[in-house]
Amino acid sequence: MTPSRGLQDTHNRIIRDLRVSITDRCNFRCAYCLPETEEAANFYRSNQTGNKPSNRETKLGYPWKPKSQILSFEEITRIIRVASSLGVNKVRITGGEPLLRRNVESLVADIATLGTVDDLSLTSNGTHFPRLAKRLKDAGLSRITLSLDSLDRENFKKITGRDGLDDVRESIRLAKTLDLTPVKVNAVIIRGLNDHEIEDLAKFAIDEQIVMRMIEFMPLDSGRAWQRDHVVPGAEILQRIKARFSLSALPSQHPAETATRWSLGEGCAEIGIIAPVTQPFCGQCNRIRLTADGNIRTCLFSVHEHDLKPMLRDGSSDDALASMLQGIVLKKEPGHRIDQPGFVQPERSMSCIGG
Ligand code: GTP
Ligand code: 5AD
Ligand code: SF4
Repeated sequence: MTPSRGLQDTHNRIIRDLRVSITDRCNFRCAYCLPETEEAANFYRSNQTGNKPSNRETKLGYPWKPKSQILSFEEITRIIRVASSLGVNKVRITGGEPLLRRNVESLVADIATLGTVDDLSLTSNGTHFPRLAKRLKDAGLSRITLSLDSLDRENFKKITGRDGLDDVRESIRLAKTLDLTPVKVNAVIIRGLNDHEIEDLAKFAIDEQIVMRMIEFMPLDSGRAWQRDHVVPGAEILQRIKARFSLSALPSQHPAETATRWSLGEGCAEIGIIAPVTQPFCGQCNRIRLTADGNIRTCLFSVHEHDLKPMLRDGSSDDALASMLQGIVLKKEPGHRIDQPGFVQPERSMSCIGG
């Protein structure tokens, strides 16, 4: 039974979606997230910017959290169980790269066994997915989202810092075979980096019969090189695709959906446009996030986090944890302020928050 009030914030938004980062580590070095070198961090930074990378997150090394600070699977499962008792029914496992965490399939099984999560998905860069796909499916994973920002091997390497195109393509094939569907594929579109591939990515969606999501670049990169000029507005992406392919608008499946959806061609290929910068969807947001080190973030762009670890580790009851979650959700921000004066980029990059 959902205790009265559940997880409702002061803007009357009801939280149903918990995104759980299970590691802050990643084997990729995507330019828009965790660039490896100063050159990668800089490639889209022009001279006029005053937006400098923070010292803790430059090329000099990544401050991975020590293991003692990372939640165990038992702790994660407990939080999900308590959140479910408050109305959460959708969980996405993220990272860093979540498939780097050993025995991830046993966490999936633990969550699935709760019986409270209707939609259990995972976001991955695809490198380790071929090895783990069957185990994840058997453990109860509902579906997967894979990242793919380029179909050109060299550009893929430039964007991600790794030669991983073949692995992602194989992962997409396998996800379809195992019916981890709908298979969604995320492409962050950045002007001057991969915007020339928009049409090719749309064509890929048709060829593979998948859901291709084109995402506006958000200021969540560890290099702090984000600039407004590098955002390709969702409307522009859509126009470009419309000029080449037949698109028809799809109805929203849920008010809190991040993407506007278009069916592409005759089959079940789809384009999703995710435009948080030019068309914010915060008013309907039903998401909170749990970081690998046990902090709740009430917004992707939160500048304050709420540490659950002390409570998890001091013998507090589930009821106390539930009350804590309810109190935290009351502090959920009305929305991000990306385009507004005084916007402050969060200290942690997307690699620690999870996408
Ligand atoms: P499903 O539709 O359930 O698959 O989830 P989703 O729409 O949240 O998609 P997914 O989890 O694949 O997220 C896709 C991308 O959308 C993320 O990588 C982020 O870039 C962006 N995104 C997701 N959630 C939010 C959010 O709450 N706020 C903002 N600003 N962007 C988000
Ligand atoms: N802007 C938008 N999306 C991002 N992601 C990571 N960094 C950013 C960013 N700066 C998304 C990618 C990836 C997911 C894990 O997070 O789509 O697939
Ligand atoms: Fe929700 Fe924050 Fe994302 Fe807006 S930016 S949709 S409030 S998580």
